[in-house]
Amino acid sequence: MEKVSVDELKNYLGKEVQLHGWVYNTRSSGKISFLLFRDGTGIVQAILYHPDHREELVKRFEELNQETSIVLVGKVREDKRSPLGIELDIVDFNIISKSIDYPISPKEHGVDFLQSNRHLWLRSKKQSSIMRIRSDVVFFAREFFNNRKFLCIDAPIFTPSACEGTTTLFEVDYFNDKKVYLSQSGQLYMEAAALAYGKVYCFGPAFRAEKSKTRRHLTEFWQIEPEVAFFDIDDDMELAEDLVIYLVQKILERRTDDLKILERDIKPLENIKKPFYRITYEDAIKILNKKGIEIKFGDDFGAPDEAAISFEFDRPVFVHRYPTQIKAFYMKKDKDREDLALGFDMIAGEGYGETIGGGQREDDYDTLLKRINENNLPVENFKWYLDLRKYGSVPHSGFGLGIERFVQWITKTQHIREVIPFARTLDRTEP
Ligand code: 4AD
Ligand code: MG
Repeated sequence: MEKVSVDELKNYLGKEVQLHGWVYNTRSSGKISFLLFRDGTGIVQAILYHPDHREELVKRFEELNQETSIVLVGKVREDKRSPLGIELDIVDFNIISKSIDYPISPKEHGVDFLQSNRHLWLRSKKQSSIMRIRSDVVFFAREFFNNRKFLCIDAPIFTPSACEGTTTLFEVDYFNDKKVYLSQSGQLYMEAAALAYGKVYCFGPAFRAEKSKTRRHLTEFWQIEPEVAFFDIDDDMELAEDLVIYLVQKILERRTDDLKILERDIKPLENIKKPFYRITYEDAIKILNKKGIEIKFGDDFGAPDEAAISFEFDRPVFVHRYPTQIKAFYMKKDKDREDLALGFDMIAGEGYGETIGGGQREDDYDTLLKRINENNLPVENFKWYLDLRKYGSVPHSGFGLGIERFVQWITKTQHIREVIPFARTLDRTEP
């Protein structure tokens, strides 16, 4: 008999198949018992009509507690009312291992309880859908860059210096009393790689010792970071736009069922087309002021500000040319406006804020050295980085897309901790 998975069942109409997985839930009503069976690819309903079976099997059904692992044999039947369009008639089943007092019942639980049981919570229906979408986002982001002949160049995680400011560094004791930091971003290394290979990207974890307790902050998150030689800020925004459109299209094509399980309204996603809006930081300030929000040149946007901006537009918007003083040291200054940096943030739609940050890098040796000093960064740690401006410097740009911020938006999940398998936040490092 063929071993199949739930997501393949529709190709086996009328056939008897074998499945390996777990009991999601059961209920019985009179002469009929219902089993919700899950195997990691989906959930299918299987039915046991008592009069068709030996008494022993009907009795054994009572041992099927939530999360009991089983081998199930069933016949696939069309059922228009079920979400999958099919159902199984149970032929037989064998218990592999029991599950007694599984802590997460189908009733509502508090988030803290669920977080403490994250190792089990991952099995739940909505969490499974989120993880499938996350996996696809990573896969298709890599595919997007591979299709465009980018080289994947991995950046180190132990780093000697700060990329995104010294206030959010996690320090690690290295050998011989040496201190290193967990990487905040692979960018600086991608710049070296871009000057070596032209078009590169890295995909890896990033760490920020950020004491912010918001719905959008993790202390450990994942970023995909392209970097391209001879790219200016406009080329860079176009690349970000193409990537986002590609990812949204792929998820809409491949993960319709999961988006449905998550009750995600897909209309706003279907509207994600070229061109995204592009406004300057100063335009954004005007928009916010008009909405009665008090904010002035030089202030950074908080989550409520970004949400307010995003609600003004029906698709993502790039906000570019922020004041130099609120952006990272490596950003190139606008040649017409010394007080502005050629950096941008992509603000996602529907109240979800910054999802991508990037821009054009300072490529002039003296200017960069000055910026490093102004930011009180230890020049000796940036010697290699300055070298890139010494030996054949070229204009170059890149960006970082936060995988969790992106998945949070696409799945319209309230809190970012649900879109990473095991979240690390200010107050939680377990399980
Ligand atoms: O804007 P950020 O800090 O930019 C950088 O790290 C650049 N070096 C990237 C580059 O140009 N190569 O971070 C980039 C993205 C943000 O837009 C956001 O999506 C995500 O990373 N991000 C976080 N996600 C979750 N929790 C946090 N604490 C995050 N901080 C940034
Ligand atoms: Mg940013």
